[in-house]
Amino acid sequence: QLVLDTLHAHSIIKDTRSLVIPGQSGPAASQDAQITILGALNSLLSRDMVKFETHEVVSHALTPEGSQIALSGSHEARVWSALPTKGQGTPVTLVQLKKQMGDETAKAGHGRAFKNGWIGKEGDGLVKLASTIKDVTQLDLLEIQSSGTLKSGEKDLADLRKRKLIKGQWFTVSKGSEFSTSTAKPETDLTVDMLTSGAWKTSTYKKYNFEAEGAPTAGGSLHPLLKVREEIRNIFLEMGFAEMPTACFVESGFWCFDALFVPQQHPAREVQDTFYVSDPSHSLHPEPEYYKRVSTVHEHGGFGSTGYRAPWSHEETSKLLLRTHTTASSAHMLYKLAAKCRGEDVEDDDRPAVGKDGQKDDGFRPAKLFSIDRVFRNETTDATHLAEFHQVEGVVADRGLTLADLIGFMKVFFSKMGIKQVRFKPAYNPYTEPSLEIFAFHPMLDRWVEVGNSGMFRPEMLEPMGFPKDVRVHGWGLSLERPTMIRYGISNIRTLMGHKTSIEGIENSPAPML
Ligand code: PHE
Repeated sequence: QLVLDTLHAHSIIKDTRSLVIPGQSGPAASQDAQITILGALNSLLSRDMVKFETHEVVSHALTPEGSQIALSGSHEARVWSALPTKGQGTPVTLVQLKKQMGDETAKAGHGRAFKNGWIGKEGDGLVKLASTIKDVTQLDLLEIQSSGTLKSGEKDLADLRKRKLIKGQWFTVSKGSEFSTSTAKPETDLTVDMLTSGAWKTSTYKKYNFEAEGAPTAGGSLHPLLKVREEIRNIFLEMGFAEMPTACFVESGFWCFDALFVPQQHPAREVQDTFYVSDPSHSLHPEPEYYKRVSTVHEHGGFGSTGYRAPWSHEETSKLLLRTHTTASSAHMLYKLAAKCRGEDVEDDDRPAVGKDGQKDDGFRPAKLFSIDRVFRNETTDATHLAEFHQVEGVVADRGLTLADLIGFMKVFFSKMGIKQVRFKPAYNPYTEPSLEIFAFHPMLDRWVEVGNSGMFRPEMLEPMGFPKDVRVHGWGLSLERPTMIRYGISNIRTLMGHKTSIEGIENSPAPML
């Protein structure tokens, strides 16, 4: 304020040493006062309120540190004199030096003494190398103390100034482009309050700084479900599985249920369980011969099965719906896999036929497929249920697979997910026989929890597709949400998905490391 008022009255301050600081008798000639003034000038400069030039004084003064050195020698000289001559005593470690003369002196001093070649290392400690030294710093400071300057000139003075051993500056100050006598902080925002009170008319505003760098934007972060999905995907990939295309959220009743030999009267197909699409409401007709084989096995049986012996509804099979499980995608893929077996003219994928030595190639190629994607169920949502969630699914097709192969696969798969203790319980699925529910021991909950469902796909599903009789396909499925919730200790599924999701929680969630 003193600077601003003086500038206001005189337009320029030729020499800041002439300023009279209120409450002090004389002008602010002392170097301490000049240092305080420099602080104020720098802050005013940053707001373009003043401009100033720096001058070095003719007569320098010593800082307290400088006076101390003039009296008792430089840090480096003190370090040197505290050490034994090489070969004549126990070397002194830096830690000991610090204890003896204080951290700062020891640190600064031993560095400079090294540079000057005064001291050297011996073992872990330090020793004298020079037998005598000339403490130039002390001599220079003594000269300044008595004469106010150095005969050797400005370069040495500047060096001592930089080391904060002497001081001697004063300033010429003039008005800056934003000069004002008010030190009130300029406004950075035009607020509603300023508009309603009229304060905006008299406020000063901070200028835009077009050179300023923008605030760094926070990086994106992966949702926990995506992280766990990535890890599970890697498990499948390292086990040699290929990923199935799963982009079709909308399926027909045919692919979601009928192709899987799910009876048309099955409760899962009712509106309470399945979301049906109203526009368009019906699918195109599937390939007629396959359609005929599927409808026949339902209605009348075949392939060794008696079928459901219930009337077939074309209406039911052609309804469009949101897929209730990713097994609908698996059905598409298996149907495609059997294309060559059906005698269709497909591009061969170059893999040799397996297990049919000496026989004609029937077109079958083994496959290991997986998918991880979204499914939809018309359920009331609660802490553990959502109307849309994700399914992880693995499918293996080969000749002569057994239930033991399925169990073996799942043991390896789940142990790669960190689930070492698994148990299997007989269950029912319309499209698999036998079917197994998978339970894992949960150490935190101290009980067995269901983690998935599996089974050997039925011949009623595989043979209409055209697979040879000795081809077995087994599969297993689990939700992506369950392992994710366990991994991140989430008890309510709604904090994972939907409008109650915690963005912060997502940003801070660690990698899962299954
Ligand atoms: N589709 C089954 C489900 O919704 C999981 C499953 C996949 C079962 C493959 C058997 C074979 O739970």
